[in-house]
Amino acid sequence: MKIRSPRGQWSSRLTFILAATGSAVGLGNIWKFPYMVGQNGGGAFVLVYLICIFLVGIPIMIAEVMLGRRARQNPINGMAILAEQEHHSPRWSLIGWSGTLAGFLIFSFYSVISGWVLYYIYLSWNPGFSGLTMEESQSLFRNMVADPYGLIGCHTLFAIMTFGVVARGIQAGLERAVKILMPGLLILLFLLLGYSMSYGSFGEALRFLFQPDWDHLSGQTALAAMGQAFFTLSLALGAMMVYGSYLPSNISIPRTCIIVALSDTAIALLSGLVIFPIVFAQGMAPASGPGLIFQTLPVAFGAMPGGQWFAFMFFILLVFAAWTSSISIVEPGVSWLVENHGWTRPRASVMVGFGGWLVGLGTVFSFNLWKEFTVLGKTLFECLDYLTSNLMLPLGGMAIAIFACWKLSVNSTRNELNLLGPFEFNLWRGVTGILAPTAVLLVCLNSLGVF
Ligand code: PFF
Repeated sequence: MKIRSPRGQWSSRLTFILAATGSAVGLGNIWKFPYMVGQNGGGAFVLVYLICIFLVGIPIMIAEVMLGRRARQNPINGMAILAEQEHHSPRWSLIGWSGTLAGFLIFSFYSVISGWVLYYIYLSWNPGFSGLTMEESQSLFRNMVADPYGLIGCHTLFAIMTFGVVARGIQAGLERAVKILMPGLLILLFLLLGYSMSYGSFGEALRFLFQPDWDHLSGQTALAAMGQAFFTLSLALGAMMVYGSYLPSNISIPRTCIIVALSDTAIALLSGLVIFPIVFAQGMAPASGPGLIFQTLPVAFGAMPGGQWFAFMFFILLVFAAWTSSISIVEPGVSWLVENHGWTRPRASVMVGFGGWLVGLGTVFSFNLWKEFTVLGKTLFECLDYLTSNLMLPLGGMAIAIFACWKLSVNSTRNELNLLGPFEFNLWRGVTGILAPTAVLLVCLNSLGVF
């Protein structure tokens, strides 16, 4: 197999952590986590989600980064090369293909929702949220999603932002962006937490988030929680594999992955603790769906002194978080076109970007013109989300785990994870090779009603 481009490397471990956290922390934590918790009844979902993060997500993340570093290639080539080296079927490169395709589909709706955030930056000044009631906030949101042209405009802007950075290459584009973002977002979330604790129904929110109501635990809830764990950790799509491929070989993969996953989980929980006290204080339905943060947060901002500035800063930082995630979502596809087809980065970016933008129009219309058009009771956006998060990512993750533990020779794996002691190494192999794939399989079968 021909390798065309010499690959760059992260300048330090911190840069990798920042970039991987930049990929992991995004809309999945702040927009999707709260509304999924709300739709799936609270505590039981959170508990399954946490179990999935620790027993399935982290081990698979280690496996994925490890495969990326070993192959030093984009996911499609990387899987093909590793399979060839270990004398296995070239069909293992399907892992790379399905991840890259999932990335393309996820980008299409990710960009639309990020467009909403861009629009809220504008709304935070004009008309501003000062003194906003919940009804007014809900109608602001409803009006936004009812207007396809506005949504297309914002979606277009965000797609250009993403591919503008991707076109310039990983080092120049990414390293600078992630270093500024995280601390700012964290500070604002803590400020918001202060507001929610003082003025929201904090006790009720705590109970909702952390007291599991077992009646709510169904196969579909478990599948949704597992899908969310994959989505939020950026797994099985090749993003972590690509980032791993830029990782210098003297860095401990497990320790680094644990730091990334813990930060990501902390931000999701923080976001839940910010949103739900407001939801309950305002008597809003927790199951309101994808509009949840867009309807609750403006009310909080509108009631705070200096809320206009906080709102403005918050939505800017949220766009940043979405931006760094979205860059990593499309990176596998773009690097494949560059490395396999000799395309320039700008050309590959324009092509992938245009395709993703086009598919994204389906998501835009699923909130207005095509609202009534459903398949199995789901709008187009919900179908894309379900197909990627609940099916493609978990099944891809299962394949990654099986490949890393059962197909790669133990020596190769041990060399790559050289900083683990023998006990930890075997523990990781057991969890990744047996527990994680079994869990994914059981959850998928259960949600299909097999048992
Ligand atoms: N983890 C991102 C988020 O939580 O918003 C979304 C994402 C990024 C999913 C990268 C998958 C991916 F490969």
